[in-house]
Amino acid sequence: MARHLITSALPYINGIKHLGNMVGSMLPADVYSRYLRQRGHDVLYICATDEHGTPAELAAKEQGLPVDEFCAQAHDAQKAVYDGFALAFDYFGRSSSPENREITQHFARKLNENGFIEERAIRQVYSPADGRFLPDRYVEGTCPHCGYDRARGDQCENCTRVLDPTDLINPRSAISGSTDLEVRETKHLFLLQSKLQHEVEEWVARHEDDWPHLASSIARKWLTEGLHDRAITRDLDWGVPVPADTWPALAAEGKVFYVWFDAPIEYIGATKEWADQDPENRDWKSWWYDVDTTVRYTEFMAKDNVPFHTVMFPATELGVREPWKKVDYVKAFNWLTYYGGKFSTSQKRGVFTDHALEILPADYWRYFLIANAPESDDSSFTWEHFTATVNKDLADTLGNFVNRVLSFSKKRFGEEVPAGGEPGAAETRLGEEIARLLAEYEEHMEALQFRKAAAALRALWSAGNSYLEEKAPWLEIKTDKDGAALTLRTAMNLIHLYAVVSEPFIPATSAAMRQAFSLADDTASWVTQDEAKALTAVPAGTPFTVPPVLFAKLTDEDLETYKERFGGVTAE
Ligand code: 2FM
Ligand code: ZN
Repeated sequence: MARHLITSALPYINGIKHLGNMVGSMLPADVYSRYLRQRGHDVLYICATDEHGTPAELAAKEQGLPVDEFCAQAHDAQKAVYDGFALAFDYFGRSSSPENREITQHFARKLNENGFIEERAIRQVYSPADGRFLPDRYVEGTCPHCGYDRARGDQCENCTRVLDPTDLINPRSAISGSTDLEVRETKHLFLLQSKLQHEVEEWVARHEDDWPHLASSIARKWLTEGLHDRAITRDLDWGVPVPADTWPALAAEGKVFYVWFDAPIEYIGATKEWADQDPENRDWKSWWYDVDTTVRYTEFMAKDNVPFHTVMFPATELGVREPWKKVDYVKAFNWLTYYGGKFSTSQKRGVFTDHALEILPADYWRYFLIANAPESDDSSFTWEHFTATVNKDLADTLGNFVNRVLSFSKKRFGEEVPAGGEPGAAETRLGEEIARLLAEYEEHMEALQFRKAAAALRALWSAGNSYLEEKAPWLEIKTDKDGAALTLRTAMNLIHLYAVVSEPFIPATSAAMRQAFSLADDTASWVTQDEAKALTAVPAGTPFTVPPVLFAKLTDEDLETYKERFGGVTAE
């Protein structure tokens, strides 16, 4: 048994996430956590909303709410969707918590004591009409290189050139549209990452061989380009305040930390929130501080987050000069596209997680998304692929098997698992096949290869169908009643095995399958190789019920309705 600390990238507070966000962080982290718990490990799965920064302020403004109220509501709205998706966090925190404030300020003080923070004056665009400094990307204007008239102050979307806001022709505030802009001098704290380059390089070198290529290649690229000193404060009303005991002047000016400084620290902050909710037996520091090798820390994220997690946050943790736990394994994902194009909130293209749950229960989505996770490459969501997968894998291969076996047995043998004769050659072959596939499934889960794990799970379901076709109990019963009973008992044992091993993917359906059997003592958390071979966990005489259809078959009409509602089927 090991201790597994698991985090998924913190979703921004400013809106409900789409399916691409879900498959690139929280869902695989949940599947992995559930699997590890089932295997008897001690797991702590932590996530939170990422609540600071300009986008949160602007979203609040748009809704006419004070930013703290907006965040509180938006947090609850996101949490409700994640509950709907059956994400079993140990704790889902908030980066605006007092706990995160305390730890973020502590980190900043320590970095300062250790000579990694410096105060520097910079020139920044100020908008009197907005009454604020404008972050680079909130200055818009004409690109000096290509003439695109909606270029942002950090980058031109049209020609991709990196810009400085002062490069723009006819600059204006993206918030108010005001063209009355000035450049003012203002002081900020800089994290001297250049001084930590060497240490981060050594640290990455010690870990990257274990990481998937996507994570290590991005980390390498950033290190090769060199770590630059970076402003870690902003002139905003909302954020973790700069501590007055250390920087009284900046604190008096109301400076706060940059959202990307406090967000990863919230992994620790949320763990403390978790402990503060229930202090008993919750030694949160045993997960994070001066921990031994029995704690393994795995992070889940999409590829755009990799630099922050493999280079910048480790640089912060190293510079603090305290033994905070650093990541062991970085599971990074590519993009899920919508018909080959980007999911887009503004153009109403793609599927958002709340809408997904309005049309179908979570297990449909969980299975499809993980089976098609963008692991080695981007992968594309289409309604055609989704409905075909649901129909074939979930409705036919799994759902229909369960229903057919239980209904037929009930009809012919009543409401208890029938006894039948001794297992024969077909059952031995089946047991061996199941044990082999189960070993494959475990191997892929241990390696965090989710698509392959889904394929192995599907193969387990298929093996049941092949067995049933081979034995054909509906014919067998005409000549050999005992034989048919044996077949059905074996198939029912398969259903119970499916309930146990499918749980990380489809927890609600798994519970329904398990509850079909009134076993006196059903505590099985996993299935051993020997149990898989024997298929005898559900003995003859066990009462059972036939659950309602597990997965509805989706029709052509459904397909058309979804396409119409969610639109945007042409790639951009
Ligand atoms: O990209 C994002 O959605 C960020 N909110 C992720 C933050 S991850 C962590 F560092 F907090
Ligand atoms: Zn341009």
